[in-house]
Amino acid sequence: QISRGEEALNVLRGNDRGGYTIPTHGLYPYQWNWDSAFAAMGFAGFDPARAWRELESLLSGQWDDGMVPHILFHQQDDGYFPGPEVWGGTGPIPSSGISQPPIAAGMARRIYQADPQAGAEPMRALFPKLLRWHRWFLKWREDQGAICTTHPWESGRDNAPEWDAALKRIDPVGVGEYQRRDTSHVDASMRPTKFDYDRYIWLVQQGKNLQWDQAALLKECPFRLADPTMSFTLLRAHRDLKALGDELGLDTGGMADEIALLERGVQSLWNAEIGSFDVRDTRSGEWSGIISCAAFLCWYAGIESEGQLQHLRRILGRVTYGVPSADPDWSGFDSKRYWRGPSWPFMNMLIGSGLIEAGHSEGEKIRAMTQELLLKHGFSEYYDPLSGEPAGGGKFTWTAAVWLGWVS
Ligand code: DGY
Repeated sequence: QISRGEEALNVLRGNDRGGYTIPTHGLYPYQWNWDSAFAAMGFAGFDPARAWRELESLLSGQWDDGMVPHILFHQQDDGYFPGPEVWGGTGPIPSSGISQPPIAAGMARRIYQADPQAGAEPMRALFPKLLRWHRWFLKWREDQGAICTTHPWESGRDNAPEWDAALKRIDPVGVGEYQRRDTSHVDASMRPTKFDYDRYIWLVQQGKNLQWDQAALLKECPFRLADPTMSFTLLRAHRDLKALGDELGLDTGGMADEIALLERGVQSLWNAEIGSFDVRDTRSGEWSGIISCAAFLCWYAGIESEGQLQHLRRILGRVTYGVPSADPDWSGFDSKRYWRGPSWPFMNMLIGSGLIEAGHSEGEKIRAMTQELLLKHGFSEYYDPLSGEPAGGGKFTWTAAVWLGWVS
């Protein structure tokens, strides 16, 4: 029988399409932005050159305005919807028209630190591209210093309960007939509902009609939510990028002020009523009122919070396998439905490593929970946090990468 470590390598190699890695065969057959950053971390331990190549191929899809798309459609695949023609991306490679939480700079820093000599050249080349991407967020997604998501897919947490109220306000007129593909790969009970999907597609159509003109979308897109995932990941990514720039003697002018703005910005996400970081709808001014795993990314961003720690302790006491994507005490908690309950190993890693850096013992606890989960159940997309049962896609790149880079 092969070890988990060998199995993890096989998952990465099996999903390698030559220069970029798909998240999983069938369900996600292209290069996804934050998945790819984790793939780079996974490769780093046994093939650093391939790790750099992963990040380079991701940044090769950067648009003229600096945006780095959430999906790069390197080749046609009829098993996925919505494909390149639905998105109408305007970059150098057929792509979606939205971005995703910026994890790449942090992974670049890890790979660089493992071998600074070999990493100096690829890092110098990546630095200005990553900086332009981060500044695209600051220019087009910033609200009171926090960073907004303009599509549930941009946040990466597709059907998180925090989007419910904003999605309900959208009347998806003109969306027309379309054929979902995700539910032919994975049981529908583990995926977003049709109600949600209609609105996802409506938002894609609006963006395409506006040719992804960010000034127009800023005015017209009804979905604009200041989000802890986007804000905490950008804050962390910008800290990591500045550290790399300083070390390599590159121009980091302005970055310290940008970090200070983001530090103030994340405090605008504090919902005092529930004592937690929360999603703030910039259109309606309302809070979601729900505690999700995104709130626990504060330590990853270097932000301390005693109140958040209390919620974490309560929630970890309710589950067996890591940080659930939604609060188990929330009435809509659904242990198998994607971002409404399941435990995601890559999220556990971001949250857990942040806690470890901050000196909180809960970080090691989350790491141990994640290790046990993957030992017992292999490398799935996500898991039931109560039973550990695997859910979603199988042979999943970022879960295998978490094994290689964090828990093994
Ligand atoms: C999907 O197709 O479900 C993806 O999550 C979009 O990024």
